[in-house]
Amino acid sequence: TDKYAVIGNPIHHSKSPLIHAEFARQTGEDIEYSAIEVPLDGLQNSLQQLRDVLKLKGINVTVPFKEQVWKITQQKSARAELAGAVNTVVFNNDGSLFGDNTDGIGLCRDLVINHQVELAGKRILLLGAGGASRGVIAPLLEYQPLGIFIANRTASKSSHLAELFAHLGNVHGGGFHDIAGEFDVVINATAASLQGEVPPLPDKVLASGACCYDMMYSDTDTAFIQWAKAQKAEKTIDGLGMLVEQAAEAFYLWRGVRPQTASVISLLHNKT
Ligand code: ATR
Repeated sequence: TDKYAVIGNPIHHSKSPLIHAEFARQTGEDIEYSAIEVPLDGLQNSLQQLRDVLKLKGINVTVPFKEQVWKITQQKSARAELAGAVNTVVFNNDGSLFGDNTDGIGLCRDLVINHQVELAGKRILLLGAGGASRGVIAPLLEYQPLGIFIANRTASKSSHLAELFAHLGNVHGGGFHDIAGEFDVVINATAASLQGEVPPLPDKVLASGACCYDMMYSDTDTAFIQWAKAQKAEKTIDGLGMLVEQAAEAFYLWRGVRPQTASVISLLHNKT
């Protein structure tokens, strides 16, 4: 049995063990997957223990360690390098760590495949300029949207992010008051939902047929999803599908087998 885990702090509410157990059952892969809380100041030590004592083959990384693990991993995929954050690690046999980031592809698969949201030629508004936002910009640009506007409470952070990705496509950034025109896809990557808040968005920001996506999920509608419904968005989607899709991509990296996601997404929807 090969062992894997998700690390974070806090971690007890993580759905990842359930998701990976379902993937293992479905594919017949012989793995164990647990959730491990790592002390906020103990990442380096914990990584060594997970590798040398618990003999894990790989880990997922969640809040607040994604950026720290990015700094620690010497070898990284191109998409992790750009994301500035690592959510999936492979412990190589020689003791080295390989870092990847599957969040961006997870979001795009959920939008494009699971929900048939067209991205090519569309106007995308991305809210927030932290790690969650940074990780999805390059993967979104691969679908050749007309453009991405990154809006953030702290405008300098979104302008900086836009500059970082400008070589990959039409990306601009600014404050919420700089949002101009209508958008086809609005993605919330702020932590505002955690406080039950919605970023201050102008009226008429949604084009007709617009889709609103909250990277957060909760048993009931998040504040952003409530706002989107009130604005008559055609589609509103929460981040549960993204969670399952990023996990599937991590599972594929570790095992070389791609699990089916639809049944796992509906299983989780039915549990909440
Ligand atoms: P993450 O890794 O989840 O992106 P983060 O790096 O702490 O976490 O970033 C949180 C994001 O949510 C930031 O864009 C933050 O805005 P600032 O850069 O101005 O801090 C945004 N955010 C948090 N609370 C918010 C709120 N109540 N309203 C609007 N934006 C908020």
